[in-house]
Amino acid sequence: MQPVSFKGFAGVELKGDAFGSPDDPAVLLIHGGAQTRDVWDEVADALEKAGRYVIRIDLRGHGESEWPADQRYEFNAFVEDLRALLAQMASRPVIVAASLGGWAATAALGEDGGHLAAGLVLIDSVPEMDFDAACRPDSSGMHRASFDPAFTRGFDPESAVARVTDAVAHIKVPVLFVRGTKSELSGADEASRFLGNFENVEYAEIREAGQMVAEERADMFSATLLDFLERRVPRFAPEYRQGSDARTLRDALGCFATGVTVVTTLDKAGQPVGLTANSFTSVSLDPPLLLVCIAKTASSLEAMEAAENFAVNVLHIGQQPTSNLFAKSGEDRFASTPWSRGHNGAPLLSGALVNFECRRYALHDGGDHVILVGEVIRARFEPRRDPLLYFRGKYRRLHFA
Ligand SMILES: Cc1cc2nc3c(=O)[nH]c(=O)nc-3n(C[C@H](O)[C@H](O)[C@H](O)COP(=O)(O)O)c2cc1C
Repeated sequence: MQPVSFKGFAGVELKGDAFGSPDDPAVLLIHGGAQTRDVWDEVADALEKAGRYVIRIDLRGHGESEWPADQRYEFNAFVEDLRALLAQMASRPVIVAASLGGWAATAALGEDGGHLAAGLVLIDSVPEMDFDAACRPDSSGMHRASFDPAFTRGFDPESAVARVTDAVAHIKVPVLFVRGTKSELSGADEASRFLGNFENVEYAEIREAGQMVAEERADMFSATLLDFLERRVPRFAPEYRQGSDARTLRDALGCFATGVTVVTTLDKAGQPVGLTANSFTSVSLDPPLLLVCIAKTASSLEAMEAAENFAVNVLHIGQQPTSNLFAKSGEDRFASTPWSRGHNGAPLLSGALVNFECRRYALHDGGDHVILVGEVIRARFEPRRDPLLYFRGKYRRLHFA
């Protein structure tokens, strides 16, 4: 076990510990209100034994984490703490969170498009949760948490309910919802109503357990959790071997994050043609060379191979519709796209992040693609805009932690 510490919202220090190897897939454990990270003792142990890297932290105002002097305990502070913490982690964890922790995780993931985590496990975190019951000293007597008494006064359950309810529909990662059959925080009906709003959710009940399932029935809870993780967020990474499925190879290649370009030229009739391509690479400074790979099936290939001149237009974050347009067949791509002729005649998309005007330098065979190498004659770029990114088959934007 290693001590860990993160900077939360407004620099508040969040303390916790980590178990296992950071090379294994990560699980982040977040306790509920008026608890501390000790509730996960047995679960953390089981997860580590099953080959997961486990991090558990104390929420602000709880256990060893900072009890902020300004006593900021409104719901937003917990959401922002979690967002800051996730941005500091080296990989996207599965978040396992109880009651108030689950509310914060749901809001953080839903409002951020779910890119910050690989999965979400909620313990008894319906929006209608009885907050006072959640923070009542534990009736089972298993657990005496240390927390700042100002926390229960400063928390604003109404704002949490509204945000959690809105966030749910935007969560795309696999979700497991767990509740103890004897929990006082929520009933089975409330849980099932809540679950109806998720895109991708499983439900598990732990018999003879109350709201502290992870502690009261650690063995059953861990078994349920591990079953979910093995199926939905497997420990072993997918592998491609030559001759096996092309899908896995695509997924492997998709792990390389790129920008997005539109490659353009004029066909024999002088009409503009172009297609979306992320296979762009800088090649040489002297002479100044770049390359793109064009599929042999692309309808614009003939024009690209024949043209003396072409252009590579690097797209900015606002040009996702342009990227889609130039990747879809049967559309008149230039009718609705502002463009002008460059010095060498090749079409330049207006407002792009960069326009590279190129003279054809070489054509190489590249399997089912043609490698088109261009000598850069001119490059004009826009220094103030952010790029459109592409990663794992999805468009992305720069994220500054
Ligand atoms: C983000 C993204 C990147 C792409 N990268 C390439 C690429 O590098 N080379 C390629 O040939 N096609 C690429 N494509 C696919 C083409 O844009 C798409 O097949 C297009 O319809 C081909 O145009 P055409 O056949 O009408 O000429 C990409 C598509 C997208 C959405």
